[in-house]
Amino acid sequence: MSFTGKMISISNRLTKKFRAKFYKDYPTSEFENKHIEHLVSLVNREELLHRLPKNAIVAEIGVHEGEFAEKILAITQPTKLILMDNWMLKSYPGLFEKVGKKFAKEIGTEKIQIIRELSFTGIQMTTDAYFDWVYLDTEHSYNVTRRELELLRSKMKPGGIIAGHDYLIGNWNGGMRYGVIESVREFCLKYNWELLFLTHELKIPPSFAIREIGYSK
Ligand SMILES: C[S@@+](CC[C@H](N)C(=O)[O-])C[C@H]1O[C@@H](n2cnc3c(N)ncnc32)[C@H](O)[C@@H]1O
Repeated sequence: MSFTGKMISISNRLTKKFRAKFYKDYPTSEFENKHIEHLVSLVNREELLHRLPKNAIVAEIGVHEGEFAEKILAITQPTKLILMDNWMLKSYPGLFEKVGKKFAKEIGTEKIQIIRELSFTGIQMTTDAYFDWVYLDTEHSYNVTRRELELLRSKMKPGGIIAGHDYLIGNWNGGMRYGVIESVREFCLKYNWELLFLTHELKIPPSFAIREIGYSK
C-alpha cells in the first residue's frame, strides 16, 4: 500500500472509532406502521408550505437572513409569525439588522415578532398551546433538536404541526453528523406523534413535518 493509502486507512480507522464512541447514545428504535401510515412525500419545502395551515400562528426557529421566512409569509399568510434566532454567527455579521429591515413593515404592524434568543430560552418565552405550526431550523444536532422538540410540545395547539429542516444524517462537505432524524423519531415514539410530510430536495436538505396521532389532515 502506498504512503497515501496507509494514511487514509489510519484516518478512516480513527474516524470510525471516534464516531462509534461519540454516537453510541443515539436512539435506534424503529417506527411502527402507525408512525408513517399518513406520510406524504413532497417535492420540496415550498410544497410543504402549501400544505401547512394558512392564516395561522407560526414560528420559524432559526431564521438566518429570512429567506424562508419570506416564503412562509407569501405562501401561508400567517396571522402571526414569530422569527426566533440568536443571530450571533460570526461569519454572518449584520444579519439581525438585515432581517429587521426586510420585515420592517410586518414588524410595524406586529404581524411579525422577533425573538432574538437561543432557541431553548426563546421557546420558553412563548405562550403555551399557542402555535398552529412551527418550522425548526437551528443547529441540527441530536441533543439540541431533542430539547427543542421537548420544549415545543407544550407550545403547540392540539393537533399542531412541528416541521423542520435537515432531516438527514449529516453534512458530507462539512463533516458534521446531524441528529434530526433520531430526535424526531424518538419524539414520535415517546409522545405518539406521526410523520405527515417528508420533502425530497437534492440541492438542499429535506424537511419533515410531524403531528400527534389522532388528528386528521
Ligand atoms: C440554517 S440557518 C436558518 C435558515 C432559514 N431557516 C432558511 O431556511 O432561510 C440556521 C440559523 O439558526 C441559528 N441558530 C443556530 N443555533 C441556534 C440556537 N440554538 N438558537 C437559535 N438560533 C440558532 C443561526 O444563527 C442561523 O441563523
